[in-house]
Amino acid sequence: MKNLIVGQSGGPTGVINSSLAGVFLAAKAKKIPKVYGMCYGIQGLLEEKVLDLSKEIKGPMDLELLKRTPSSFLGSCRYKLPEADKAEAPYVKLFQILEKLQIGYFLYIGGNDSMDTIQKLSAYAGQKGSEIRFIGIPKTIDNDLAVTDHTPGFGSAAKYIGGTCKEIVRDGLVYDIKSVTLIEIMGRNAGWLTASSILSRGEDGEGMDAIYLPEKVFDTDRFLNKISNLQRSKRSLNIAVSEGIRLADGRYVCEIRDGRERLDPFGHRQLTGTAAVLADMISRDLGCKTRWIELNILQRCASHLASLTDANEAFAVGEYGVKAALAGESEKMVILERVSDSPYICIPSVAPVSDIANLEKTLPNQYINKDGDNVTKEFLGYVQPLVMGEQYPIMREGIFSHLVRQ
Ligand code: F6P
Repeated sequence: MKNLIVGQSGGPTGVINSSLAGVFLAAKAKKIPKVYGMCYGIQGLLEEKVLDLSKEIKGPMDLELLKRTPSSFLGSCRYKLPEADKAEAPYVKLFQILEKLQIGYFLYIGGNDSMDTIQKLSAYAGQKGSEIRFIGIPKTIDNDLAVTDHTPGFGSAAKYIGGTCKEIVRDGLVYDIKSVTLIEIMGRNAGWLTASSILSRGEDGEGMDAIYLPEKVFDTDRFLNKISNLQRSKRSLNIAVSEGIRLADGRYVCEIRDGRERLDPFGHRQLTGTAAVLADMISRDLGCKTRWIELNILQRCASHLASLTDANEAFAVGEYGVKAALAGESEKMVILERVSDSPYICIPSVAPVSDIANLEKTLPNQYINKDGDNVTKEFLGYVQPLVMGEQYPIMREGIFSHLVRQ
């Protein structure tokens, strides 16, 4: 029987290592002789940076710690493979390494860019008659992968965002003065995460006063008008803004400040500073106290507040990926299909990676209100089941403990 190699790629999530745990356990159960991990994704594999996962996960306690460890245990990369017909060298090298390790199954845990890697490697394998099976395991806090109902990682990030926004709202009520707090949330060009700030609303709190999503053009005049209207009846306002909101001319709002472009190998800009730009605008034009908060990487590494539903699904897609590869599937990604909302039931299956790679699934109109500055109750129905349940951390000396690479 051939060996298996698994890698992690792109931005991490709070439960990405649950998928790694699922892959490892399923591979062991199927008696796959060696389970290798690539360090720093495909980029590390090109430098033969691999480890034997059995030496890292030595027992059930390590496995439980791994599931609760944020960031990618194996290390990650944002590396774009060239087209094989333009530059064959990395492919030749990669397949030599895979052959040396006697790999039969290649699993890659990642988002839409990582599925580009699965697609290119499977196509190359097809041309060369290689029998290695390539399977993508979904993950991204952004929830922007096509075909699947949602992506593992999103539910935990949504839970963190909803809970943190709720605490921020409470803090904003402390003084009897007018104030506006802007909360910047990740997600690039997809508003799923920002929309999840709606979870801060409950019987014990009003939640966000407005939610600005990248799916709608951002108009600064309308925004300032909205704030000043809201201030007539409320002293403390809380506004969620996506890092990816853009002006009518296509510029990101965060580019108003310094105009600098920071691009990764897939051409994505590093988006940061949106809330700061808007806070400056409000204090200049409306003259009230402002604060801005960038949830930044906190929303993707808060494993201590992971959703149990999300953690279990992350594990399940890892397990399912191994089963699919052993059953002969290749060039596919594991997806989650929602069969029922109440009770919530989602089941894994697979879909062609070509329907997913490099595409971004944005928030559909049915989830956005007609003014484009909040979300609908249908969205709440979609997101609520994903944040249910707690995966409690394992504490040591009062702080969460993690599994570290040897
Ligand atoms: O892919 C998830 C994501 O967290 C995006 O929401 C965000 O824009 C980006 O990654 C940030 O990536 P990096 O870790 O490269 O700064």
